Amino acid sequence: MEYNSLGRLVVISNRVAIPKARGAAGAQGGLASALGAALKKRKGIWFGWSGQEVEEFTGDITTHESDGATIATIDLEPQDVEEYYNGYANSTLWPLFHYRIDLTRFERETGMGYERVNDRFADSVAPLIAPDDVVWVHDYHLIPLGERLRQAGLRNRIGFFLHIPWPPTNLITALPFHERLVKAMLEYDLIGFQCDEWLESFRYYCRKELGAKIDPGSGEITLGDRTVIARSYPIGIDYEHFMKLGESKEARHAERRLTGSTRGRKAMIGVDRLDYSKGLPERIDGISRFFDNYPERVEELVFIQIAPPSREEVRSYKDIRELLEQKCGQINGARSEVDLVPIRYVNKGHSAAELFGFYRASKIALVTPLRDGMNLVAKEYVAAQDPEDPGVLILSRFAGAAFQLTDAVLVNPYSADDISHAIRIALDMPLEERKKRWKKLHRGVKGETVQRWMNRFLKDLNAIPA
Ligand code: UDP
Ligand code: G6P
Repeated sequence: MEYNSLGRLVVISNRVAIPKARGAAGAQGGLASALGAALKKRKGIWFGWSGQEVEEFTGDITTHESDGATIATIDLEPQDVEEYYNGYANSTLWPLFHYRIDLTRFERETGMGYERVNDRFADSVAPLIAPDDVVWVHDYHLIPLGERLRQAGLRNRIGFFLHIPWPPTNLITALPFHERLVKAMLEYDLIGFQCDEWLESFRYYCRKELGAKIDPGSGEITLGDRTVIARSYPIGIDYEHFMKLGESKEARHAERRLTGSTRGRKAMIGVDRLDYSKGLPERIDGISRFFDNYPERVEELVFIQIAPPSREEVRSYKDIRELLEQKCGQINGARSEVDLVPIRYVNKGHSAAELFGFYRASKIALVTPLRDGMNLVAKEYVAAQDPEDPGVLILSRFAGAAFQLTDAVLVNPYSADDISHAIRIALDMPLEERKKRWKKLHRGVKGETVQRWMNRFLKDLNAIPA
């Protein structure tokens, strides 16, 4: 069922899908893939950061038309980018929300930069919003934006969706001013999480730290005279569009290219932004353990890791890149023959059509994040398989996707032995079992699309009295 409201939809996120944005060459991530798909052919506005810097912030808005939607962007100052994007968003909230308190930096200046940029977003976007528009804010960069929009006098329905995990209370309470952040979040009308686990953590925090009243049936969270609804809405892929891409020349060429280059060996693939949350060094350790345990099987496999660089100005991202290069180098040094390199580590991004072809040519996918809000790569891999000869998905139990894709081979991504064992299971899995598992996985991926995600969220948001 298609959701329809009288007003327009105004979507606000830090990143928007425009070609010249930072990281656009393949590493724009799940949020931009999903929102780009969800907004297609829907009249509305998608507002965000251009990815560009200007010496002094002006608030000037640049617009692009894209499939019927208007993409409106602002440029930010270098100090904004440093404090808000590299700083508070990606050196404080991202690591903390991915359970990496060891990598989390707590700095007053970046916190102030985060507040300032949220003010700038609010000041710039508020004049574009008409009284009957529905506003939908996305992700950890813009948690306080709803509150700022309320302060600017907006009475519209405003929803918020968090694309990343909500961490356990013991972690979030390590964040200075955590109460302020969460109270600001309660100014939205509807808050969406990727899965029940993150929703439960959020509810627990609200009850324990704020003394809020929770009604699990309706999803209502009440604090004083303010009531907000919080529910889970697992995001999906644009299934039909992705399948169409699969018929393109680009996809077919990519598939042939990969199959041709593996010369009879089975391709195993990983596709991830180069991010420590994706468990890449741990994955390489798992593969290495497999080669140690089954040296006679090294020749059966070629592992292809596509890892476009991401957030390159942040220290922890530089470190993870170095570590990964080191590990791939070590294992290739130890295991290569003149005609065999077991790990291909590709540092650049690829188009969705090419990825379709690579997924289809791969007999195994290793999707082993240490923590992930959802993980769309797992769903794309399932969609791209040949129903008559499907590959095997090895999936981290710590990805939001694991709550839906229960017929994958689920692993503990911290355990090299577990990954090694899963690779052996996947390599030896009989065709009948592969088909049986794939059918169930595929039913979910095809049914729970990004369009369904958006319609469910907006239907609930629209049902809340303005
Ligand atoms: N992606 C891409 N090209 C690449 C690598 C990734 O288009 O070279 C896309 C991928 O197809 C998926 C998204 O980026 O749609 C990654 O989303 P996911 O939810 O897996 O992780 P995120 O990057 O959002 O943490
Ligand atoms: C994840 C986040 C998104 C982000 C994406 C890419 O999917 O949830 O908000 O846009 O990663 O990261 P980047 O920093 O390049 O926008």
